[in-house]
Amino acid sequence: MRMFRCLSLFVSCLTATEINMTPGGMPSPPTKQIVADKRYEALVGKGEWEMILNVMVWSEGPTWWQNKLVFSDTRLEKIYSWDPKSKLTDVVMEKAGYGIDPVIDTHLWMEPGSNGLAANPHTGELVICQHGSRALAALSPDGNLRKLVTKTSFGPLNSPNDVAVHKTTGDIFFTDPVFGKQTVNNNLIRGNMGGAPELDTPGFSGVYRYNPKNEEVTLVNNEMQQPNGIGITPDNELIVAYCNETVWQWWKWQLNEDGSVAGEKSICIDGKDTMSGPGYPDGLHIDEEGNVWVSGPGGLYIYDKNGVFLGGEKFTTIATSNVLVAPDGYIYVTGNHGVYRKQHASKKHDEL
Ligand SMILES: *[C@@H]1O[C@H](CO)[C@@H](O)[C@H](O)[C@H]1NC(C)=O
Repeated sequence: MRMFRCLSLFVSCLTATEINMTPGGMPSPPTKQIVADKRYEALVGKGEWEMILNVMVWSEGPTWWQNKLVFSDTRLEKIYSWDPKSKLTDVVMEKAGYGIDPVIDTHLWMEPGSNGLAANPHTGELVICQHGSRALAALSPDGNLRKLVTKTSFGPLNSPNDVAVHKTTGDIFFTDPVFGKQTVNNNLIRGNMGGAPELDTPGFSGVYRYNPKNEEVTLVNNEMQQPNGIGITPDNELIVAYCNETVWQWWKWQLNEDGSVAGEKSICIDGKDTMSGPGYPDGLHIDEEGNVWVSGPGGLYIYDKNGVFLGGEKFTTIATSNVLVAPDGYIYVTGNHGVYRKQHASKKHDEL
């Protein structure tokens, strides 16, 4: 009993000083907030990030599906769910990067699992970017997996990375860089990354539109070295992260009402002046006001719909991979082995 009291005293003492402990008792990653515009305070409030889970090898793709947070471990090949009410974790899918299609030697691959995920409001399915089978797939709530796209007129895809479903047209836009073709020793068995010769289709990194009505896949762009996070704004614009070591940009295309691309790209965000730290332009989230939440070098950054920098959360020890503003009023960030969250400053929070 005495020892127990000492221990709890010890813990509460540390809470106040050295280690940032969240209310749940998990250590939170150190962060530093940058407020560049006062609108930022209505989005991300003060206070600590809470670590909700830290068991992944590389955590990605946070999405809200079936009233839970779902996310990928690209390396352990699983899709997990986390229930904010019970705080319990479950496995939604094993072998999530290839599922019913185990045709390749995935043990050689660094990231054979799934990556970006998106709930499809038109079908109720979870759309999955699969590295292993180089496919875009969809999982129904009762566990049926079907492939949506495995190849285009240019041949098999590289390794779909991130995906966005258009709320009104149902079109599915996705990026297809070569990261998922990387082997464990950083060599490539296929692909054009790292200056290696192009050994395989499609021979470039693409951004695509999949039209589920006629099952047609059209190329939106193939100029980016590695297109990554993707999203659609309330003003019907497509935004894509350009992921490379030196270019930290987000490109934008206006879409027509029928879902086709209206014109040339423009650069809507250039992070060169506002970003610093580990990581690359990666996943993104677009909120109802059209603010663009991006994970980029050094953490999470928010820009308004005109590309004006509002502020950021610098994660000093992890590289953030993706961000979701969820319906439960929390902001979820994936990065390294973990999933972290913090309350949105002006949304109603589900009290747990
Ligand atoms: C990043 O992309 C730019 C523009 O395509 C290219 O010039 C540059 O070499 C790339 N950087 C790296 C490190 O590959």
